[in-house]
Amino acid sequence: MSNPKIGIMTGGGDCPGLNPVIRAVVKKAILENWQVLGFRNGWKGLVDNDRVVLDSKAVSGILPRGGTILGTSRTNPYKKQGDVEKVKQTIAVNDLHALIAVGGEDTLGVASKLYKEGVKVIGIPKTIDNDLSCTDFTFGFDTALNIATECIDRLHTTAESHNRVIVVEIMGRHAGWIALQSGLAGGADIILIPEFPIDLNEVCALIKKRHERGKTFSIVAVAEGAKLSEQEITQEEKLDEFGHVKLGGIGSALAKLIEKKTGYETRVTVLGHIQRGGSPTAFDRILGTRFGVKAVDLVKEGRFGQMVSLQGNNIVSVDLANAVGALKLVPKEMYEMAKVFFG
Ligand code: F6P
Repeated sequence: MSNPKIGIMTGGGDCPGLNPVIRAVVKKAILENWQVLGFRNGWKGLVDNDRVVLDSKAVSGILPRGGTILGTSRTNPYKKQGDVEKVKQTIAVNDLHALIAVGGEDTLGVASKLYKEGVKVIGIPKTIDNDLSCTDFTFGFDTALNIATECIDRLHTTAESHNRVIVVEIMGRHAGWIALQSGLAGGADIILIPEFPIDLNEVCALIKKRHERGKTFSIVAVAEGAKLSEQEITQEEKLDEFGHVKLGGIGSALAKLIEKKTGYETRVTVLGHIQRGGSPTAFDRILGTRFGVKAVDLVKEGRFGQMVSLQGNNIVSVDLANAVGALKLVPKEMYEMAKVFFG
């Protein structure tokens, strides 16, 4: 293989660890004597042929930086007629030997479809939600988990001082990994996640029992996608290009109901994009770095249509199609274990 060019793009919601991935891909590619082109703003950059040369100067100093130097978007080229052809043209015009797509289920879903249409793609799994199948962890999750845990710690002291119930709304569209694990790590008194419908009577009974025991405050961790009486709480009707509604609002709905049913003063805190911002943890920097190096190895070996993956402590690769087939949800056993600490 003589001096090929590879492309890289970051799509979907940003998350801490994207820059370490970009840096690792570029550094490893330079060692192989390859050139890297970065495409801006997710699939949009491939549609518009909006690119930048990524050399070692371009990635200098980005390891500890959150976000992505390439920018991101939720553009879906399969949504608009002609866009997939434009993506393919961009790949041809730039003489790309391969494309590395860094993203979650949506971005990698597009990558998987493109691979089936003959595009040489490698996927790298990213999302704070940790809901991608076929990998133990996605990068970004550990940082979000640590931020949410710190917030729960902080909420404890103010809840206790004011004898309040505090509902903390945590990101997690379909899967409650961040809420579950930060709730466990931060000692939340109740954890509510999308995988299991909320039983309001049970929640209020747990809070009442706890307060009758002499506790004067409670922390309720709720994932934004958790459902109250089979009803998903949304902020607005508009869908994004992958068909997702904008979630949010379950925290305040729940806080009002808890206050009404228990009589205890209740407040809500929505953590929102704080969970996605800022510097990645050491774990996410290292995971992103290992994923980036492995992705370039796969390009070198010509193993396209694969996604890099963490299994145990090993970085391996799996079929992209399998990884995007179904989301990785919190299993019942794990939720049952968490319930030991409720109330
Ligand atoms: O997919 C990651 C995520 O942070 C979800 O947890 C959340 O529902 C969504 O993105 C928020 O998206 P946006 O940044 O478009 O508001």
